[in-house]
Amino acid sequence: MPTLVNVLCIGAGYVGGPTMAVIADRCPHARVNVVDVNAARIAAWNSDSLPIFEPGLDEVVGRARGRNLFFSTDIECGIRDADIIFVSVNTPTKTFGEGAGRAADLQYWEKTARQILAHADGDKVVVEKSTLPVRTAQAMDRILNSNARGLRFEVVSNPEFLAEGTAIQDLLQPDRVLIGSHETPSGLRARRAVADLYASWVPRERIIQSNLWSAELSKLTANAFLAQRISSINSISALCEVTEADVDEVAYAIGTDSRIGPRFLKASVGFGGSCFHKDILNLVYIAESYGLTEVARYWESVVRMNDWQENRFVRRMLASMFNTVAGKRIALFGFAFKANTGDTRESAALAVTRQLLADRAHVVISDPKALDNARIDTESLGGHIELEPDPYRAASGAHAIAVMTEWDLYKTLDYGRILASMERPAFIFDGRNILDHQRLFELGFNVFPIGKTPLRHV
Ligand code: NAD
Ligand code: UGA
Repeated sequence: MPTLVNVLCIGAGYVGGPTMAVIADRCPHARVNVVDVNAARIAAWNSDSLPIFEPGLDEVVGRARGRNLFFSTDIECGIRDADIIFVSVNTPTKTFGEGAGRAADLQYWEKTARQILAHADGDKVVVEKSTLPVRTAQAMDRILNSNARGLRFEVVSNPEFLAEGTAIQDLLQPDRVLIGSHETPSGLRARRAVADLYASWVPRERIIQSNLWSAELSKLTANAFLAQRISSINSISALCEVTEADVDEVAYAIGTDSRIGPRFLKASVGFGGSCFHKDILNLVYIAESYGLTEVARYWESVVRMNDWQENRFVRRMLASMFNTVAGKRIALFGFAFKANTGDTRESAALAVTRQLLADRAHVVISDPKALDNARIDTESLGGHIELEPDPYRAASGAHAIAVMTEWDLYKTLDYGRILASMERPAFIFDGRNILDHQRLFELGFNVFPIGKTPLRHV
C-alpha cells in the first residue's frame, strides 16, 4: 500500500472537480481536497446537485466524497496540508490592456501562486493543471522560489485533455497523461510523484513524460490541431454546398485514410467551448510575441474560419427565408456548445442568437441542460428572447428551427407534430447534420443541412 499523499486542487470548476473526483476514486491512498473562492460552487459540490452536469460524475463523487475527497473554501488550510498542489483556476482570454482579446489572463493563476507562497509551511510540488502559455512555469518558479523562508517549490506541468460531456470516461481511460518537469533531480522526483498518482489506474506506457516547456506547448498545440480539423472540414462544407458534394460523404471518404483518421471531421455551425478559441488566440499571441508572424497568421485563420462559418449559417437562414427574419419566431434546438453538457461558453448558439436578434427575429431557445446558462448569457442582449425547455412548445408558431446542439433527443422528436404547429413555409436549418433530412423534406419542411444541397419546396 503506497503511503498517504495529500493532494490539493485549487479551482473546483469543470476540470478541477471531475479530475480530483477521479483521482480520489482511483487512489485510495490519496486524501484529495478541492478548494475554491466561490462558496456557492463549493456548497453545490457538497450537495446532491453538483455544479456541473457530466455523465457519470454523480457516481464517482458519490463513491469518494467524505471518504478521501473533500470540497471546501478553506484554501489556507488546504495549502498547509498538501504535498502536491494542482492549480486548476480559470485562464480566460485577456479583455484589457496589452494583448487584450488574445493573450491569456493570468491574474487568477498568479494570485494562486502568491496564496501558495503565503500559506505554505513546507516544500511542495505545484502542478499546472490549467492551460497556460508556454514558459509560464518559469514565472511560477520565480514567484514561488523567491521566498526568504528556504521553502522549495517544484513546478510540474500536467495539462488536462478531457472533453466536456465525456470527462469521466476521458479521465478513467485517457489516451495519455502528460507530465512535464525540469530535468533536475528534484524536478524528476516531482514528476515521478505525480506519475505515481496516475499509475494507480493509467497504464505506465500511457503516462508520457517530457520537459516542462514541451508539456505546456503540447496542450495548446493539441487544441489547435483539433480545432483546425473542424475549421478544415467546415471550409469544405461551404464548397460542398455550391458543388452538390456532400460533406459527410467527403469526411467519411478522407477519414478512412488511416493517416487522416475519422474523428473531429464533423462539419457544424462552428466549434464552441471555453478553450478552443482562447487557446488558439493565445498561441497566436505567443507566436507574435516571438516575432513569428506567419505562424500567428496560420493559426489565427482557424478561428477566423470558425467565425465565418457561424456568420455564414445565419446569412444562409436569412437568404432562404426571403431575406428577412424580422418578427419571425425562430426556435433554436440546443444552446450548449456540444451535447451532454450544460456548458454554453463560446457556444455557436450564442453567436447565432446575437445575429438573429440584430435582424429582429424572435428567438426561442430550448435545451435540456443549458437553459440556466443560456439565461445568464442572453440577459443583457435585449431583443425578443424566450427560453422554453419543451422543444414542441419552442417550435410552435415558429417559421424556422435551427439545430444548434447535437442532443440525441432532437433526432427522435415527432417532426410531423412539430410541422403541424409551425408557420408555413417551415424551415429547418440543421447546424449539426443529425436529422433525417429526406424524411423531413417528405413531411413538408424546407431542409438546410450543413455542407449538403438543401431540400426545398419553395
Ligand atoms: P472554471 O471557470 O470552470 O473553474 C475555475 C475555478 O477556479 C472557478 O470555480 C474559480 O472560482 C476558481 N478560482 C479562480 N481563482 C481562484 C483562486 N485564487 N483560489 C481558488 N479558486 C479560484 O474553469 P475550467 O473550465 O475548470 O478550466 C480551468 C482550466 O483548465 C483552464 O485553464 C482551462 O483552459 C483548462 N481546461 C479546461 C477544460 C474544460 O473542458 N473546461 C479542459 C481542459 C483544460
Ligand atoms: C476540447 C478538447 O477536445 C479537449 O481535449 C480539451 O481538453 C478541451 O477542449 C479543453 O482544453 O478545454 P471540449 O471543448 O470540451 O474539449 O469539447 P470538444 O469535443 O473538443 O468539442 C469542441 C467543439 O467542437 C464543440 O462545439 C463541438 O460541437 C465541436 N466539434 C467537435 C465539431 O463541430 N465537429 C467535430 O467533429 C468535433
